[in-house]
Amino acid sequence: MTSQIDHLLTENRRFAPPAAFAADAVATAALYEEAAADREAFWAHRARELHWHTPFTEVLDWSTPPFAKWFADGELNVAYNCLDRHVEAGDGDRVALLWEGEPGDSRRVTYAELTDEVKRVANVLIGLGVGHGDRVAIYLPMIPEAIAAMLAVARIGAIHSVVFGGFSADSLRTRIDDAGAKIVITADGGYRKGKVSPLKPAVDLALDGRSGAGPQETVEHVLVVRRGGNDVAWTEGRDLWWHDVVPEASAEHEAQPFPAENPLFILYTSGTTGKPKGILHTSGGYLTQAAFTNKVVHDIHPSTDIFWCTADIGWITGHSYVAYGPLANGATQVLYEGTPDTPHPGRWWEIVEKYGVTILYTAPTAIRSFMKIGRKIPRKFDLSSLRLLGSVGEPINPEAWMWYHKIIGGKTAPIVDTWWQTETGAIMVSALPGVTETKPGSAQVPLPGIAIDVVDEDGTHVGNGNGGLLVVTKPWPSMLRGIWGDPERFKETYWDKFEKQGYYFAGDGARLDDDGDVWFLGRVDDVMNVSGHRLSTTEIESALVGNEAVAEAAVVGASDETTGQAVVAFVIVKESYLAEHPIDGLGNTLRLWVGEQIGPIARPRDIYIVGELPKTRSGKIMRRLLRDVAEGREVGDTTTLADTAVMSVISAQVK
Ligand code: WTA
Repeated sequence: MTSQIDHLLTENRRFAPPAAFAADAVATAALYEEAAADREAFWAHRARELHWHTPFTEVLDWSTPPFAKWFADGELNVAYNCLDRHVEAGDGDRVALLWEGEPGDSRRVTYAELTDEVKRVANVLIGLGVGHGDRVAIYLPMIPEAIAAMLAVARIGAIHSVVFGGFSADSLRTRIDDAGAKIVITADGGYRKGKVSPLKPAVDLALDGRSGAGPQETVEHVLVVRRGGNDVAWTEGRDLWWHDVVPEASAEHEAQPFPAENPLFILYTSGTTGKPKGILHTSGGYLTQAAFTNKVVHDIHPSTDIFWCTADIGWITGHSYVAYGPLANGATQVLYEGTPDTPHPGRWWEIVEKYGVTILYTAPTAIRSFMKIGRKIPRKFDLSSLRLLGSVGEPINPEAWMWYHKIIGGKTAPIVDTWWQTETGAIMVSALPGVTETKPGSAQVPLPGIAIDVVDEDGTHVGNGNGGLLVVTKPWPSMLRGIWGDPERFKETYWDKFEKQGYYFAGDGARLDDDGDVWFLGRVDDVMNVSGHRLSTTEIESALVGNEAVAEAAVVGASDETTGQAVVAFVIVKESYLAEHPIDGLGNTLRLWVGEQIGPIARPRDIYIVGELPKTRSGKIMRRLLRDVAEGREVGDTTTLADTAVMSVISAQVK
């Protein structure tokens, strides 16, 4: 971390908001003043921009921390706010989704069409017995039906749990069981990297492949969208084709009001233990902050902008800035099914040109991989429509920021580096475009209405020029309301560390520069960030020791030029296994094994087979030392190791 801090200290380029941008920007400096004058009134004002069936009179109830309630006596319907409201205002013909399939097929879906589809899906779900509070798992590619499914679930007051299509059958099963899902909505398959990547078989495996001791089956039906055209197995009575039931269903459905604190979704994310946490979000506060941040940080002008957030709906960024934020604002957005380099490395820039994308929101990993292949590729396309760029998911290094600025943004588009988490629900720290002077590499300032700090281990403010831990000091509307089924873990993970002060502990290291701007330095816990995706070291370790060959495993996140961090595993192989099997190829077998257990994103970049692992006298693995090895550095202080010689043995084995 020290070298990173030193490097960042030398970064002092500044970019003033371009005058032309500022003249028409949605955000104004007055927002900061308004929030500073009365934070709760500020959020109440933002919330009232939504449609409330029953207006709220209370703003924040923080009487039983850390369990917040926002706008609790108000009632609204999230889907009505994202759909019907725009149609009723006369914007039904506005395009909601400009969908582009990976092979080049495309669809335009207007707000009126999407509303109609969502009403039908809502009726299908009701017909299948889904009611208020029931859980629906969604395991779909990036197709318009994915958005329709989420909104239909929200419309009837049920709770969705979207599982990223890249997760394995095992990961899907864990999530289905933890939430007790009644329905799974999936597709036969979707296009990835030039071919159909099947999804339905993973659902079948998750549901059928149970041992007798498994949990009670909760899934009654599987609703299947045809996208890939691949053959799928069929369970009569359980499985239904979307194209059989949705067009047949009635398009009449009146959105009912639900309390502001009605659960909206569960989204699983990696924590410091092996078991993913089901982060719970509710309705009114979440939608308020998702819509507001999308509007001011992404500078949405609904009738003229073409917004494109490249995240998959399986992540929080896809929830807040593909599904809910842009639709609540009545924006037009691009939805792209596939990978950035299929069928050619300029695919994204071709899409920007084709649709005249004005606002692009993506992750530093993507920017770094484009940097690697060179400016020639984007230069072949007309990117002049782009007027604002955003970054999310991991720290953006100044070099990548500058490349994004020059090559993609034509030196004029402001860049907003947005810090937030699955848990925060929406953007928390970011420049406001048109208002803030930007600094390459710094996420900068809390949004109006958001209270953060950088503190030391005791919870004391560190002061400008110092590093520490990022905390959120006051409740915010889109904050997580808990961990599904585990209130204790919710308290322990986020609130116990600064219980005295009542601060939310984010798990990120951060530094304040001389202006008090925030520079994020990465996680301080056992969570890795690979290509902007959160992975838990412990989860991958338990997958590895689940393999018959492995006695012990330690996983670290090593810095990687393209992906930010990469998974590096050190494993000790069982003597009994070695006695009967050759060791050749075992590393690769284990990589694939992890892919099957969790999903391809979790596959280690490197697997080192070693004789021992560095442990303290109390038996704790010192990952810091393994990280030194994985990053090819001189190994740090080993004095607390039980056996100080072990690191030279490991270093030799790794070479
Ligand atoms: C990291 C993604 C630096 C951080 C929205 C956080 C960032 C974790 C940034 C959350 C950023 C996200 N600068 N780090 N702009 N944005 N992070 O839950 O470590 O997938 O804790 O949410 O990503 O990841 P998650």
